[in-house]
Amino acid sequence: MSGKFVSIEGIAKRYSSAGGTTTIFENLWLSMARGEFACVIGHSGCGKTTVLNILAGLDEPSEGAVIVDGQAISGTSLDRAVIFQSHALLPWRTVLGNVSYAVSSKWRSWDRAKVRAHAQSFIDLVGLTGSEHKRPSELSGGMKQRVGIARALSITPKMMLMDEPFSALDALTRGTLQDEVRRICLETGQTAFMITHDVDEAIYLADKIFPMTNGPGAVLAEIVENPLPRDRGRTDLHRHPLYYALRNHIVDFLVTRSKTFAAGTPDHDPRNVPIVHIGKPGLAIASDAKPEAPRETSCPGQARA
Ligand SMILES: Nc1ncnc2c1ncn2[C@@H]1O[C@H](COP(=O)(O)OP(=O)(O)OP(=O)(O)O)[C@@H](O)[C@H]1O
Ligand SMILES: [Mg+2]
Repeated sequence: MSGKFVSIEGIAKRYSSAGGTTTIFENLWLSMARGEFACVIGHSGCGKTTVLNILAGLDEPSEGAVIVDGQAISGTSLDRAVIFQSHALLPWRTVLGNVSYAVSSKWRSWDRAKVRAHAQSFIDLVGLTGSEHKRPSELSGGMKQRVGIARALSITPKMMLMDEPFSALDALTRGTLQDEVRRICLETGQTAFMITHDVDEAIYLADKIFPMTNGPGAVLAEIVENPLPRDRGRTDLHRHPLYYALRNHIVDFLVTRSKTFAAGTPDHDPRNVPIVHIGKPGLAIASDAKPEAPRETSCPGQARA
């Protein structure tokens, strides 16, 4: 993972009405390297879905720009696949039909057999072999979400965008799908941007966590680097010495700092937000940081709860 594969550059979203203009968020800067998995957390209404929709090209920022792989985003693209909480499957098409539709949209010159074989390989990948001829109404919530994942992956996107994809699922199915998404993203080097309200999901999946403060006027407070090893497993996650320090830091943000954080604090530079390294001692905030080089700060490891 290196470089700036995704660069969100000073975006804002404002809505105007007869009552005036509301700023949902502003001056949002963040970047991701290719192959990185990022999770955005923040309270309801702070603008997470709006940021994701801007990344998807479904919405436009009031200010600023988003660059993906060197190109400014302008509208939707099959380079950026979105997995919605609500599945968004075509109800009249089968599992195979839904995935094939995406494949044929991407590779228009492929014949039917090639499209279906390609779609089937992704249906197999997400564990839906045997269900390819079912329609969405015949599938459970977890199965529908698997179709959404297969559809997104089948077009080999440059980036996967996920808006709380597992929040409506039972805990067991959620865990299984988290495992699958994690495995697939690691194996394929997929760049992923996910919104979640689930702190443990963020800790399990993300390389970086982006905490947004409460709106209106939300900002990115900091960037939390996940200190757990990339090959972490679900079952022993909580045994890692930094797990609780990381978890406490994020919960503390959601409970307290998301409300109290003031963008106007003199040392908060939206272009250069602090990078939090949990448990890494001796990293002070760099006073001579270059304009776009994020500052680094440390959060001492806390005792396990
Ligand atoms: N068309 C619109 N006009 C005015 N305000 C809007 C419009 N669309 C969204 N908003 C406001 O923008 C804010 C951000 O919405 P968004 O859906 O991005 O929040 P969110 O962080 O994803 O919340 P949640 O966690 O509940 O999904 C909300 O306060 C919402 O009311
Ligand atoms: Mg949302």
